[in-house]
Amino acid sequence: MLIRRPDDVLPSEITPREVYFNRRQWMAGAAGLALTASLPKGLEAAPLSGAKSPFSTDEKKTSREDVTSYNNYYEFGTGKEDPAAKAGSLKTAPWTVKVDGMVGKPAEFAIEDLIKSPALEERIYRMRCVEGWSMVIPWVGFPLADLIKRVEPLGSAKYIAFETAFRPDEMPGLDSIFPVLEWPYVEGLRLDEAMNPLTLLAVGLYGETLPNQNGAPIRLVVPWKYGFKGIKSITRISFVDKQPPTSWNKQAPSEYGFYANVNPNVDHPRWSQATERRIGEGGLFAKRRPTLMFNGYAEQVASLYTGMDLRKLY
Ligand code: MTE
Repeated sequence: MLIRRPDDVLPSEITPREVYFNRRQWMAGAAGLALTASLPKGLEAAPLSGAKSPFSTDEKKTSREDVTSYNNYYEFGTGKEDPAAKAGSLKTAPWTVKVDGMVGKPAEFAIEDLIKSPALEERIYRMRCVEGWSMVIPWVGFPLADLIKRVEPLGSAKYIAFETAFRPDEMPGLDSIFPVLEWPYVEGLRLDEAMNPLTLLAVGLYGETLPNQNGAPIRLVVPWKYGFKGIKSITRISFVDKQPPTSWNKQAPSEYGFYANVNPNVDHPRWSQATERRIGEGGLFAKRRPTLMFNGYAEQVASLYTGMDLRKLY
């Protein structure tokens, strides 16, 4: 069940997010499993808004229905509908994110503390999946750079490694006898990519907290990279000096590189990346759109890769 925000609610009437997160935690604790079981799509969504960021695209948003029912979250199965059907079993409160490694101030943040400051923003981003489809999603979140500054990285830190929760009891996909991926799901960014103002830690979409299938309670969003870099339900962020392993690269290194920058000129070994299908635009027979270099964000990010051979470092 989703509690939608009626259009006539004034921004000032929206529950402050710290209060809401505490309430959500309370709900989970008080009602426990019975509540979770009766809510297959996870705990109730709650309003979560932010000022619209100038980084937002003006393109037509993909419907909320499509954004929340066509997902990749293999911990809940490999079908596109599996996450919406099954991710309700993931308990997202209480939730902490451990930040460790090469930082001056390692910390374990409760999700409520993480989102207190700075202000949340709405970022409407084009998203492009390596499978050849794309969406336009109104995320709510804050720049990863803000968290990075809080923990004071040491000069030796060159990369950031991210890890998803590993909870076999709550994630039915982890039980498979033929695991698709090695768990937990891991991802990584170079520190300068992580610091780029476009890189977001998302805690909501469409003006509400993240549905579980989209990576509640906190996930990464890197709009110039293929969707698989957007690791969901993060529990650990580690600062390291070497390029960290990433799940899809471990699974198929010739198909999925560390960088994973959207690049229409570098084909996936089994299909072209030159065009894409925008979800919601007339199904399989709709005209495909040309894919843009860095998913259209070249102006902001191309300089991160100056001098690199992006055919080799795909
Ligand atoms: N994170 C985890 N933990 N597990 C996953 O299977 N799939 C990735 C990424 N993050 C995945 C994940 C892939 S392949 C994509 S395309 C995006 O999540 C999809 O995000 P969305 O469902 O919110 O659109």
